[in-house]
Amino acid sequence: MWLLVAALWLQGVRAEYTLSDRGGLGREFDGIGAVSGGGATSRLLVNYPEPYRTQILDYLFKPNFGASLHIFKVEIGGDAQTTDGTEPSHMHYPDDQNYFRGYEWWLMKEAKKRNPKIKLVGLPWAFPGWIGDGYNWPYYYPDVTAYYVVSWIIGAKQYHDLDIDYVGIWNERAFDAKYIKLLRYTLDKSGLERVRIIASDNLWQPISYRMLRDAELLGAVDVIGAHYPGTYTIEDAVSTGKKLWSSEDYSTYNDEVGGGCWARILNQNYVNGNMTSTISWNLVASYYEQLPFGLEGLMTAKEPWSGNYVVSSPIWATAHTTQFTQPGWFYLRTVGHLEKGGSYVALTDRLGNLTIIIETMSHDHSICIRPPLPKFNVSAQNATFQLDGSFNNLDTLQVWYSKLDVNATKPVLFKKTSTITVKSGSFTLELGVDEIYTLTTLKTGQKGSYPDPPKSQPFPVKYKDDFNIRNPPFSEAPYFADQSGVFEYFTNTSDTGDHVFTFRQVLTQRPITWASDADQAISVIGDHTWSNVTVTCDIYIETPDTGGVFIAARVDQGGSPTHLAKGIYFWVFADGTYKVTGDLIGKIVLLKGQSGVRVRSWHTLTLHVEGFTAYGLLNGNPLWKDVITLGPVRGWAAIGTSSLEFAQFDNFMIEAEVTS
Ligand SMILES: *[C@@H]1O[C@H](CO)[C@@H](O)[C@H](O)[C@H]1NC(C)=O
Ligand SMILES: *[C@@H]1O[C@H](CO)[C@@H](O)[C@H](O)[C@H]1NC(C)=O
Ligand SMILES: *[C@@H]1O[C@H](CO)[C@@H](O)[C@H](O)[C@H]1NC(C)=O
Ligand SMILES: *[C@@H]1O[C@H](CO)[C@@H](O)[C@H](O)[C@H]1NC(C)=O
Ligand SMILES: *[C@@H]1O[C@H](CO)[C@@H](O)[C@H](O)[C@H]1NC(C)=O
Ligand SMILES: *[C@@H]1O[C@H](CO)[C@@H](O)[C@H](O)[C@H]1NC(C)=O
Ligand SMILES: *[C@@H]1O[C@H](CO)[C@@H](O)[C@H](O)[C@H]1NC(C)=O
Repeated sequence: MWLLVAALWLQGVRAEYTLSDRGGLGREFDGIGAVSGGGATSRLLVNYPEPYRTQILDYLFKPNFGASLHIFKVEIGGDAQTTDGTEPSHMHYPDDQNYFRGYEWWLMKEAKKRNPKIKLVGLPWAFPGWIGDGYNWPYYYPDVTAYYVVSWIIGAKQYHDLDIDYVGIWNERAFDAKYIKLLRYTLDKSGLERVRIIASDNLWQPISYRMLRDAELLGAVDVIGAHYPGTYTIEDAVSTGKKLWSSEDYSTYNDEVGGGCWARILNQNYVNGNMTSTISWNLVASYYEQLPFGLEGLMTAKEPWSGNYVVSSPIWATAHTTQFTQPGWFYLRTVGHLEKGGSYVALTDRLGNLTIIIETMSHDHSICIRPPLPKFNVSAQNATFQLDGSFNNLDTLQVWYSKLDVNATKPVLFKKTSTITVKSGSFTLELGVDEIYTLTTLKTGQKGSYPDPPKSQPFPVKYKDDFNIRNPPFSEAPYFADQSGVFEYFTNTSDTGDHVFTFRQVLTQRPITWASDADQAISVIGDHTWSNVTVTCDIYIETPDTGGVFIAARVDQGGSPTHLAKGIYFWVFADGTYKVTGDLIGKIVLLKGQSGVRVRSWHTLTLHVEGFTAYGLLNGNPLWKDVITLGPVRGWAAIGTSSLEFAQFDNFMIEAEVTS
């Protein structure tokens, strides 16, 4: 007896875990994915110069290279602010259809180009105003909403040869059972029976409760998608018998703690919560860092002007799963928690391949932004895995290893280490803390790499755009990040002067919003640290009597609180007046007077801000001066309109003064 205890003691404590397909498999795996949108999170990516843009896309989508994502989810642009900006709709107006706006089409094609098997998901956050006929609600006319969403799916195929696999309802907002049924009906009638419906991209309830009591609704929904479920589901959701997804998760600063959060939930969303897909918000942090939730992508690419990007640890945490499984594989039933903390899952292709992913993330190094994470302990441990059932005969496993040591100068990320020999179906690992292991029969993994990108640089201090050169051919001009309204390239072929190619605000009705949108339109650009700056722009008011436009500096915020944005704004109006304000909504009036500006006539505005004063020029001549600026001391430059109205901009120019 004492000898036995002593023997165990000498061996160290060795917990044993059996991995087996005996008695059946667990749930079918649907893939790991990421979201572009909700909103405008990929805005700056499109303007990267080559070869960097291709490299970033490879790190995200290329199989056996980086994150090698299985699922790509995009926002169905709805013309409204949806966190980090607005994304344009394919139907700004009821009689309008255009499937070339924004960058999501392009991104989906780039994803498909790299991985033809990638699954595509579309989800609206907001809708153009006409959908609700003036009401801020998309379900008064459910047939119109279904037509609008199905048109997007048909347009994806018709204009881009993209097959959308899944469609959602309304991101983190109310669902409507009648609408969901009508959406199913409209899809089927359009020959889109294969498109699956995800509902409701919010909490597990009330959708699960409603599905259990409404057979038609139960039939219409294929996947219950919950957001930030904290790795747990609920009984009602399991009772529906449907696939359960964490259809938005992560949203965490992409340092090693973010990587730890992601590694932990990728395993534990299944172990604790039966979820067979986890989707990261967001794909890539390609938006100005000072917008809400800065740097909360799987990697960072927010400097198209320098070409700099950062491949962060969540990319490699993703690779541990994605490179060694595919949608259509099955989880084993034998998954679970490790005795001293951490978790393990195992998946099989049912053709004899086995992939085991183990994570030992400690509490403090794997906290996600939400929900709160209850305390737990993780410590070093020996773990013996016994392979049983059809895996009993395996003799070797490939090993991929990461250690997300937050304080290490160089964490180990997705490193191929020596192969493990399986003896009599068994092997033992000595696991440390904050580690990820993938043990697999597949020999295909690869840690993709490119030479280091150029070093980080601030936004150029001198920048101009005459909107004449439109290459790459996106609808938006480089670096402008719409926070309210939609700004698009515009070509006026009947213009006889210098303004054939302009930049135009095109929204004319308040959208069905997702956030508290401003009534004004605004697009920001530049460097949030800019203090002393000159902004010049040609402007063209199109709306008689009530129209108005502005240029601005030191704009301190965008995103959902855009309507609270302060700064220094120089406005001119169709009625021949001007105004200088300290805020976007025009409440803080610093000065006003007559300008002589006329509607449908080009004028040049110049705003100069330095220290605590500002002055403004109209057509190169002083219009006002010595305005004391009491607002923010730094912020972006911006252009915009005083309401949702057509207006044009041309020959935009900024000159910023930076102290070295
Ligand atoms: C794991 O086992 C080895 C060999 O028996 C032993 O030296 C080591 O202390 C054990 N580690 C832990 C964390 O128990
Ligand atoms: C859900 O997960 C629990 C906990 O792992 C497990 O006991 C149960 O069998 C799972 N149910 C289904 C239907 O997958
Ligand atoms: C494992 O996967 C590879 C690659 O898909 C495949 O060729 C092989 O047949 C599968 N089965 C086994 C037992 O390796
Ligand atoms: C973690 O370990 C500490 C120290 O042994 C202990 O006080 C605490 O209760 C443990 N926490 C949990 C959640 O097990
Ligand atoms: C890193 O080390 C510092 C200093 O020891 C410590 O204060 C900090 O909490 C550590 N960071 C993390 C995330 O553990
Ligand atoms: C296009 O240019 C013509 C000629 O200058 C002008 O009359 C017309 O208003 C312009 N259209 C728009 C939409 O700006
Ligand atoms: C901005 O201009 C003021 C007044 O000329 C000067 O005091 C300040 O240092 C400048 N700030 C920067 C960041 O250049």
